[in-house]
Amino acid sequence: IITIDGPAGAGKSSIARMVSHHLGYRYIDTGAMYRAITWKVIQSRVKLTDQERIVRLTRNTKIEFKETDGLPRVLLDGKDVTNAIRTARVSENTSFIAALPGVRQCMVEIQREVGKEGGMVMEGRDIGTVVFPDAEYKFYLDATVQERALRRWKELVAKGEKADLKQIEDSIRRRDRRDRTRGLNPLVIPKGAIIIDSTKMSIKEVVEFILEHIDESEKRL
Ligand code: DC
Repeated sequence: IITIDGPAGAGKSSIARMVSHHLGYRYIDTGAMYRAITWKVIQSRVKLTDQERIVRLTRNTKIEFKETDGLPRVLLDGKDVTNAIRTARVSENTSFIAALPGVRQCMVEIQREVGKEGGMVMEGRDIGTVVFPDAEYKFYLDATVQERALRRWKELVAKGEKADLKQIEDSIRRRDRRDRTRGLNPLVIPKGAIIIDSTKMSIKEVVEFILEHIDESEKRL
């Protein structure tokens, strides 16, 4: 098991996907699971304050990952929600839903089940601390908030969408704060994790660093 944790926009998804491809491992984006539940909560018009119903809804939801044409897709109760879960509204609300203990408990159970056979790169906020604290390789990927906002801004502009850098930066700061300060399983650096500051690194450089680290460690075994 390889875990990659870190704040929003640090490049975890792209990097985890490339590392997993290189090793022939499965890739699990746990943020997408919290996003999918949030999307369902919004669609079902359940109030964000109605914890009991949200937890019940989570327990009655099936989340699956599959790959189509080399791209990872997220299925919620059989429906492809890959694009629907990437909106600003879902991003903003997910950090509230992800703070609910009943939701987290359910997600952690699924993640442990999915990963129990290994051969997997799992990415999120609490993977190296809570889900797989004994993982063979743990990484913590970080970058300054300004750089993370700029990357997100470039991504949106490249897609032809309207984007305001200041708004993106504010939203990232708010989500970071909620992810780092929640009572249960907040975002912290896992014990024994290798910290990578990607502010001045390209995605390719980070991927190479991770693969080299794994390679060197395997040689030493
Ligand atoms: O990585 P992301 O931006 O797609 O994550 C969406 C939200 O889910 C974010 O607010 C953090 C939360 N999350 C979490 O609490 N625990 C995880 N293992 C993964 C994501």
